[in-house]
Amino acid sequence: MSNDLDAFWVPFTPNRAFKRAPRLLARAKDMHYFTPDGRAVLDGLAGLWCNNAGHNRDPIVAAISRQAEVLDYSPAFQFAHAKSFELASRVAALTPGDLNRVFFCNSGSEAVDTALKIALAYHHIRGEGARTRLIGRERGYHGVGFGGISVGGIVNNRKFFGTLLAGVDHLPATYSREQQAFTRGEPAWGAHLADELERLVALHGVATIAAVIVEPMAGSTGVLPPPKGYLERLRAICDRHGILLIFDEVITGFGRLGYPFAAERYGVTPDLLCFAKGITSGAVPMGGVVVRESLYEAFMQGPEHAIELFHGYTYSAHPLACAAGLAALDLYRDENLFERARRLEPRFADAAMTLKGLPGVLDVRTVGLSAGIDLAGRPGAVGERGYEAMERAFHDEDLVIRITGDTLALAPPLIVSEAQIAEIFEKTARVIRAVM
Ligand SMILES: Cc1ncc(COP(=O)(O)O)c(C=O)c1O
Repeated sequence: MSNDLDAFWVPFTPNRAFKRAPRLLARAKDMHYFTPDGRAVLDGLAGLWCNNAGHNRDPIVAAISRQAEVLDYSPAFQFAHAKSFELASRVAALTPGDLNRVFFCNSGSEAVDTALKIALAYHHIRGEGARTRLIGRERGYHGVGFGGISVGGIVNNRKFFGTLLAGVDHLPATYSREQQAFTRGEPAWGAHLADELERLVALHGVATIAAVIVEPMAGSTGVLPPPKGYLERLRAICDRHGILLIFDEVITGFGRLGYPFAAERYGVTPDLLCFAKGITSGAVPMGGVVVRESLYEAFMQGPEHAIELFHGYTYSAHPLACAAGLAALDLYRDENLFERARRLEPRFADAAMTLKGLPGVLDVRTVGLSAGIDLAGRPGAVGERGYEAMERAFHDEDLVIRITGDTLALAPPLIVSEAQIAEIFEKTARVIRAVM
């Protein structure tokens, strides 16, 4: 009774199918999970794009347990603890340009809502309160808050939930199979799609647009790297019209693309940058938004005793998260994990591209240490083949992969070895053959 599966409503999961054949994980170390019966399962997804330094790393575990003994919690409003300042400084040092002020929260979804609210408030306090419109992108994923699903572009995440935020519009997705199939890294075709922002400016009037939010690489809808030159063009259009540019780096942050942030890989600095996941290497929930100094300064007006931004969470900059974050950043630095990802990228792409030519493989995309693989769906049963692939990977191949519909995604911890990269794609190839 105490261990029955009924009570827990499993998120983003088909509960009945899952509870019939649950995929249970009991412990983890480095590149592997272990099931309750002791089977080692290779982690092809860094948890859920988050355990970038691998699992249960000793320095992170020790930092969390030390912190729990010393200070379990300090109020997030009107009080603070030293590690919150230290971690903010460390994050600011990793972000480009004058992205130097850090607002902490607890997840990617909260980071997105925080960024959207800061953008709206920024225009408001500067007397441009008519700038309320937010622009997202089709196939974008920005978490599950009402702000995030409003600017997001995934129909199932939106259609059940009413009217969402008013005044949102969307850029077109940057993906075209016809133009881009089997590209390694950034596709050559598609930069012109950024110009759609000019069309939205013309349609809505520039004085109504507050911000544009995009993932530099769209992870959740199947690893869609930005076309060459696309982000630069978006930046230029935003600059021309006083629109804030928000990068959602919840997946791309902390090394996934071989750099601390995708902003550095692409040489494009946003006005606000959302992070989560890799900040603690997945060990404690944490998220945040880094904003340009000039944005922060715009809020630092008025009487000094008055709150400048009416926003925050009970667990913003939680001591355990800050301790885990500092330890994770130390590991990334000491083990050169971002550089390691950059160095392994060609090997990873080579291994991923071996799937080309397998039956039913419509496209393989790679960037950094991530790959998206589109499988042909079964007629009339979208997503069935993908789901079966994930089940088979886990039960038959001892491999964790991610699926979105019939697209498989792989994004292992950055400590992955070359042999493990080969193992991941050999297992994936067997899975693909088995489900075709
Ligand atoms: C780009 C992006 N933004 C936001 C989120 C939401 O993060 P969380 O699940 O921590 O709320 C995700 C999660 O995958 C993401 O990929």
